[in-house]
Amino acid sequence: MRRRRQSSNLARPPDGFILLLCIFALAAVAAAADAATHKLPYNVVMVLPQYESVNDKYNLTILKARPVIDISVEDVVHKYYLMPLNFVNFTYHDSRLWEEDARMAEKWATMGVVRAYCQGKLDAVLGFADPYSLSTTAKISAGWGNGIPVITTTGLAAQMGSKKEYPYLTRMQGSYRQMADSIYQFIANGTSAELKAPNEVSFGYKHLAFMYHDKRRAINRQQHTQSGESIGEETSSHCYFSLYAIKTYFMEKSEHFKEKWKINTPAIAFDENPSRTPGELAEWLKMASNMANGERSSFSA
Ligand SMILES: *[C@@H]1O[C@H](CO)[C@@H](O)[C@H](O)[C@H]1NC(C)=O
Ligand SMILES: *[C@@H]1O[C@H](CO)[C@@H](O)[C@H](O)[C@H]1NC(C)=O
Ligand SMILES: *[C@@H]1O[C@H](CO)[C@@H](O)[C@H](O)[C@H]1NC(C)=O
Repeated sequence: MRRRRQSSNLARPPDGFILLLCIFALAAVAAAADAATHKLPYNVVMVLPQYESVNDKYNLTILKARPVIDISVEDVVHKYYLMPLNFVNFTYHDSRLWEEDARMAEKWATMGVVRAYCQGKLDAVLGFADPYSLSTTAKISAGWGNGIPVITTTGLAAQMGSKKEYPYLTRMQGSYRQMADSIYQFIANGTSAELKAPNEVSFGYKHLAFMYHDKRRAINRQQHTQSGESIGEETSSHCYFSLYAIKTYFMEKSEHFKEKWKINTPAIAFDENPSRTPGELAEWLKMASNMANGERSSFSA
């Protein structure tokens, strides 16, 4: 089992960015609590895995996030005198993403949030290390009361930007869509003649194929785990979500890609975990090259 590997990482100083997030979140909570006649404390549930695992692509755990929260609460109370002592009641809920079957995290995460809501102890939700838990929670909690705010450092997938589906979701780290924009500017927008400043660079590529890691769609997909259980229901990878954002963005911005990728977008997914031979790799690269019309480079993530 790969759980319970908490170890040395714990001593790492809190990420400055997450700290900022928490101060922001608490300030927002403070302002809201101030304005209304909200009965203190403010109840906030933090949903994260208890242990690190290969499922947790952000390596976010409760034990890592907790000191950051503690420090920001202290700042709000003792440094900025924004709120009284015990104004906020943080509870931590294990999404169990460290379990063998990562798909179950969605259930555990949602259960924790539902329980807090049913107890009448839910004013905001923070956290999430996997997109499925975040998506489900943010969708349903938007319908409770006047809507429960959900604040996360993950949720980069383009779909999460929908204000209709996720009206109260705040994504502190931006999104894959912003990344897609940069990539578009860099490799696809215009030719060098169209660029204004001399330091602007864009390759103006027109023929692209994607090559990326994703177990679910992998060309070298493992059919069975060691225990013989089928693993047909693997979750989609970050690479998949980021390339999805790129594809969508390119098709929105460019008539060329809209036309070219209408039927399908040239792409090869492979599983990066099992060992592979140079021959296999060469084979996949050849396929990608052919898909891109054999004319130009491929792009991998
Ligand atoms: C996340 O944790 C794993 C295992 O604990 C480690 O191998 C990996 O380097 C970590 N990744 C990051 C980005 O910290
Ligand atoms: C803090 O939250 C927990 C979990 O929701 C709840 O059981 C407890 O009663 C709360 N404490 C206060 C003072 O509201
Ligand atoms: C492409 O680049 C040009 C020149 O830098 C810029 O004016 C234009 O807005 C860009 N197009 C898009 C869709 O970003």
